[in-house]
Amino acid sequence: MDKFVIRGGNPLLGTVRVSGAKNSALPCMAAAILTEDEVILENIPQVRDIETQRRLLASMGAEVELGYGRAQHRTKICCRTLSDPEAKYEIVKTMRASSLVLGPLIARCGLARVAMPGGCAIGGRPIDLHIKGLEKMGATITQEHGYLEARAARLRGAHLLFDRITVTGTEDLLMAAVLAEGETLMENCAREPEVVDLASLLTAMGARIEGAGTSTIRVHGVTRLHGARHRIHPDRIEAGTFLIAGAITGGDLIVANCNHNHLGAVISKLQEAGVRVDLLGPDSVRVRADGRLRAADISTEEYPGFPTDMQAQFMALATQAEGVSQVKENIFENRFMHVQELVRMGAHIKVDGNTATVRGPSRLSAAAVMCSDLRASASLVLAALVADGESILDRVYHMDRGYERIEEKLRGVGAQIRRLGNIFAPRDEELIAR
Ligand code: EPZ
Repeated sequence: MDKFVIRGGNPLLGTVRVSGAKNSALPCMAAAILTEDEVILENIPQVRDIETQRRLLASMGAEVELGYGRAQHRTKICCRTLSDPEAKYEIVKTMRASSLVLGPLIARCGLARVAMPGGCAIGGRPIDLHIKGLEKMGATITQEHGYLEARAARLRGAHLLFDRITVTGTEDLLMAAVLAEGETLMENCAREPEVVDLASLLTAMGARIEGAGTSTIRVHGVTRLHGARHRIHPDRIEAGTFLIAGAITGGDLIVANCNHNHLGAVISKLQEAGVRVDLLGPDSVRVRADGRLRAADISTEEYPGFPTDMQAQFMALATQAEGVSQVKENIFENRFMHVQELVRMGAHIKVDGNTATVRGPSRLSAAAVMCSDLRASASLVLAALVADGESILDRVYHMDRGYERIEEKLRGVGAQIRRLGNIFAPRDEELIAR
């Protein structure tokens, strides 16, 4: 079982480079299902969820090469033959984003069998809005034995209005619409940069899409798509996590290879908290924290609001700020799993419903803590970087799902962090399943 050992107290100094966005790469890999031609994706992050998506596509009959040589973080995918359009439970249970193959499979094959993802640590995370949209486009969907089965000779364009904003729901239905007959009008869409990245790949493949990145997307269906080469954009959540790492340690850190246009809400909150943030050209941001941090309230919203995927990380920073910070989580119903672990390290946090009240500054002391999900893990790493002593973080495979070589990157800018165990060691549930 992987663990991190982190000794707190070092300010982070120097330059850290951001990898490609996991939450762009996942839908873009699924988009390869929509064509018989080869799709090449560059700047793919070397994280566990990408390996899971490779296994999922390969299990359906796709040819998937995934290489992380020095010159390239690249995947080549060819779905010429999809012998088995089924996303099996064994894979889906480890990554609920597997539901992203639902729309492409129906659009390409007229048939899809996808294990229901089930909930996860941060919430129930249903996919009812994905299903509702596909049925509106003419798919017949049945649910049996924990699987969704969807059929459609050819999807028809429709007017889709999302009851609530859903990122992968927007992406799934966008991929369904590009091969549908006629025009699809999608309203109340997610505006996340990952949706825009997917739309630019689909457009390169021959899709006709207008309005990606806004709440209203219009798609003119085409009969086929061709291959393309596409570079995945930088991971804004990894970049935001490093900005907070530089701030919380009182360092002077340059976060390179990022797109600060995707970080507006995070940067303005950091500045409100007394952190110095300078934009150094189009893809680098410098963060310095001199003097005391000030309390600031956050309320998570869909993009371009403050991202829910940065809530846990900001809460760690708030434990070091002078005053009371209110952290409101509006997107997921159970995204405070990091709170009790931070309290065990000495933080003063009270949770009432979807709001956590953080009183700071508090001196954090090193402890043995447990990671529970991807971003909660990041919050515990940030806390350990300032805690007094040596912390042990258990179950860091959660971290490996979405952060590429995080311990190497942090060590490279002065953090005292090392991994115990082997990054590719089987996880608990894999051992239990054997
Ligand atoms: C995406 O998840 C991201 N994952 C999440 O990142 C991110 O936290 C989330 O968007 C919000 O920004 C990927 O892109 C792979 P949603 P997604 O559908 O699409 C409810 C990370 O840390 N909902 O936008 O699954 C849902 O329960 C991960 O990298 C329905 O009710 O999130 C939630 O409360 C974690 N019915 C809200 O909508 C549906 O059919 C937003 O969920 C779909 C969603």
